[in-house]
Amino acid sequence: MKVLSSPEEIYAQLDFLRRQGNRIGLVPTMGALHDGHLSLVREAKRECDIAVTTIFVNPSQFGPNEDFAKYPRTLDSDLEQLSAIGCDFVFVPSNDHIYPPGHTTFIEPPAVAANWEGKIRPGHFRGVATIVLKLFNMLPARVAYFGRKDYQQVAVISAMVRDLNVPILIQPCETVREPDGLAMSSRNRYLSAADRVRAIGLWHALSKAQSMIDDGFRNVAQIESAMREILNKVPVDSIDYAAIVDPESMEPRTDLDSPVVAIIAARVGTTRLIDNSLLRIQ
Ligand code: PAJ
Repeated sequence: MKVLSSPEEIYAQLDFLRRQGNRIGLVPTMGALHDGHLSLVREAKRECDIAVTTIFVNPSQFGPNEDFAKYPRTLDSDLEQLSAIGCDFVFVPSNDHIYPPGHTTFIEPPAVAANWEGKIRPGHFRGVATIVLKLFNMLPARVAYFGRKDYQQVAVISAMVRDLNVPILIQPCETVREPDGLAMSSRNRYLSAADRVRAIGLWHALSKAQSMIDDGFRNVAQIESAMREILNKVPVDSIDYAAIVDPESMEPRTDLDSPVVAIIAARVGTTRLIDNSLLRIQ
């Protein structure tokens, strides 16, 4: 496994491999890797000749009061895990490689970024879209793998790639969960033992939405308030949103005539958690 930090060097090596006919799969991450991240790398290995993982805690997607400084950084264990599953390249740039002095260009994110995470975390998707487009330009991959865990992020990146004619395929991948249903996340390590128990409330609320639909409920407002009721009973410390939205536009939905996504963001202790579930309608 090659670990490189220079954009010029990794571009040269990947460009050579691509010209030889290799299909290159890219997995952007911020490190602190867990099985959710590794599932994306495994998918890249399955579908491509070369799997490339990037590890960069991107400052421009964190707000001034967010956890950039204390975001977990576990590079040695990340590299061990990636090597163990046969990742071919790891790109670990420095901040100066990505944002050298004088870097002033940023992406204006697409409309699907306006609501939910985009509203609560102003500037977040501007930072995400910018770093992801930069990675696409630095690493000439055919396919990039993203987790549905960050549902709106995949929607933002897919819209950006479409709108800006970026020659790469976006492959969304299923959320990997702990045995009790909690979606794996680098931020789960912030949870105290008691908070870890409460954190399952998000999955219980999402499961409740599905079981109500299975039981024939068709009133969206009723399902949303049942999700909130579960979160309040846990209780979580605050709810940013618990909503049922359109899987494409992420606009609130009032009908259940076709599939919808239930999305939740809530705070447990000092940790902000997000999760979602694509709901089946019989
Ligand atoms: P990060 O939070 O490290 O996540 C990297 C990738 O792993 C994202 O595509 C995310 O959706 C996916 N992922 C996280 N938890 C997952 C889980 N439980 N199951 C499946 N996939 C999961 O998302 C980012 O980093 C950044 O915003 C990034 C795209 C790298 C830009 O900086």
